[in-house]
Amino acid sequence: MITLLNNISEVLTLESAFKKDGRNLLPEDSCIIDNAAVIHNQEEILWVGSKENIPSNYKIDQEIDLMGKVLTPELVDSHTHAIFGGNRADEYTMRLNGADYQAIAKAGGGILSTSKGTNSLSEDELFNSTVEKIERIASYGVGTIEIKSGYALNYEGEKLCSKVIGRIKEHFAPRIQIFNTYLAAHAVPKSFKDSAEYLNQVVIPLMKDLADEHIIDAVDIFHEEGYFSYEDTKLLFEEALKLGFKLKIHADEFGDNKGAKLAAEFNALSADHLLCTTQDGIEALAKSSTVATVLPGTGWFLGKPQANAKKMIDAGCKLAIASDYNPGSCHCDNLLLIASMAAPMYPLNMTQMWSAITMNSAAALGFNNQGAIIPGLKPRFAVFKTNKISEITYNWGRNLAEPI
Ligand code: NIG
Ligand code: FE
Repeated sequence: MITLLNNISEVLTLESAFKKDGRNLLPEDSCIIDNAAVIHNQEEILWVGSKENIPSNYKIDQEIDLMGKVLTPELVDSHTHAIFGGNRADEYTMRLNGADYQAIAKAGGGILSTSKGTNSLSEDELFNSTVEKIERIASYGVGTIEIKSGYALNYEGEKLCSKVIGRIKEHFAPRIQIFNTYLAAHAVPKSFKDSAEYLNQVVIPLMKDLADEHIIDAVDIFHEEGYFSYEDTKLLFEEALKLGFKLKIHADEFGDNKGAKLAAEFNALSADHLLCTTQDGIEALAKSSTVATVLPGTGWFLGKPQANAKKMIDAGCKLAIASDYNPGSCHCDNLLLIASMAAPMYPLNMTQMWSAITMNSAAALGFNNQGAIIPGLKPRFAVFKTNKISEITYNWGRNLAEPI
């Protein structure tokens, strides 16, 4: 079926940004077309241009009038922990009153407290509550969403969470693309002697078990002091690669633990957080295809200094922004709000900001055939109810998106 999207006030094509592999981007790489039209079928974009020049050789089956609206590549949230039970509002208040994130975690709060809330939910409760969260994320124009497991922290519970994410993926396809990331290595439950014991008894055996069922898309680990060590991370990565999994990593969030460098060495899809990454890690990422993913919402939520995204961009990194939506360190699911606030802070120009939440965040999930509006790429779009692209981020926190 061939569709014509017609009378579009502006289309953010990001054509030149895509041709530059999402790196070293200038304002003019946005390539905005006004009074535009787009022709696509179910698999790919066929034509993009001014509506004056619509070619006559396509047999159009349906025409959609986008008068007074703008079209962008669909937004991609490449880092969420959207499957969980319970609530940690009290911890947020404790932090505002002076407590520290890691100290709260040590005292039994943090990820381990969400594991109680998660393990108390039935499969259907997990499914239904996550569906609701995904619909909310999609209401901001986000059409591809990564969901990490990692709040059950025991063999059966983690298996269930990965399976529920698999069910959610089927439920939403093809309207919303779900990417299923295995993060059983998120925290070490108190019943294990140390991280190595949990890794060897639960994380690696379950990963092998899930490999046979073909439901997970990538493997991730929280590489951080008090969570999983450099040796744990290398071991998990080596085992994951043997099974053919793509890799992701929570790197250098609270200290420089050489996570970014390790990600580049292992050719991971992305290294995420990067608050404390030093120049050698940044350079390693710049030379690699590993996407540097920053999560500004987490720095704000925790009151920590932000990642040095400007340095990453200047070094030639492929920069993505994601929400890190989770119950503890960033309970904000609005990627566009986060990116709009981050742009003047880092700072990023408009092309860098839009690429960070479209093509580069898609690349952080291994989707290299979307994220720009050019012929040959997947027809995955977001529509906003305004006639200027610039209005979308200018109106911080006001949702102008038509739900995906
Ligand atoms: O990405 N850093 C590890 N995981 C989450 C935090 C999860 C939590 O506090 O519940 C993150 O920030
Ligand atoms: Fe995270």
